[in-house]
Amino acid sequence: MRILMVCLGNICRSPLAEGILQQKAGTAGLEWRVESAGTGGWHTGEPPHHLSTKVAKLNGVDISNQRARQFVKEDFLNYDFIYVMDSSNYVDVKHMSGTLWNEAKIDLLLNELYPGENRAVPDPWYGKEDGYHQVYELIDAACDRIIQKHTQEVRATK
Ligand code: 4NP
Repeated sequence: MRILMVCLGNICRSPLAEGILQQKAGTAGLEWRVESAGTGGWHTGEPPHHLSTKVAKLNGVDISNQRARQFVKEDFLNYDFIYVMDSSNYVDVKHMSGTLWNEAKIDLLLNELYPGENRAVPDPWYGKEDGYHQVYELIDAACDRIIQKHTQEVRATK
């Protein structure tokens, strides 16, 4: 499985999602490639926001080596599934993807926890540290669900 996590800046939410799902997949013995990107390119080449890095580290996840990049439409070809953090990411990805848009390969991350509700992982960029902790917990729970779903599917097909 190749999974891409997408937010706006690729420095706050999607780096956490990348690091958390990568770690959970590894622990579950799954050889997944998990990466992240932003719909905006302003932070290209930058490491994650220091509060995302801090909160991840407090939870035993190292995201310090990640570097931001912008989403490109070919990501629809290079990944099996794309998770976006909120509805505006979804609309932006759709506009950026042209003919490569594939609705079957994209969803909001929190629809894993709350199917069909289109809930957002709130952008912590404008707030204080507690927002980063809240975002961590939301992403962590959604990633648990992804792993659980996948390992159930694998067991069912064996
Ligand atoms: P993210 O947060 O989408 O979770 O990475 C943001 C980071 C930077 C900006 C906006 C959101 N920005 O406007 O630079």
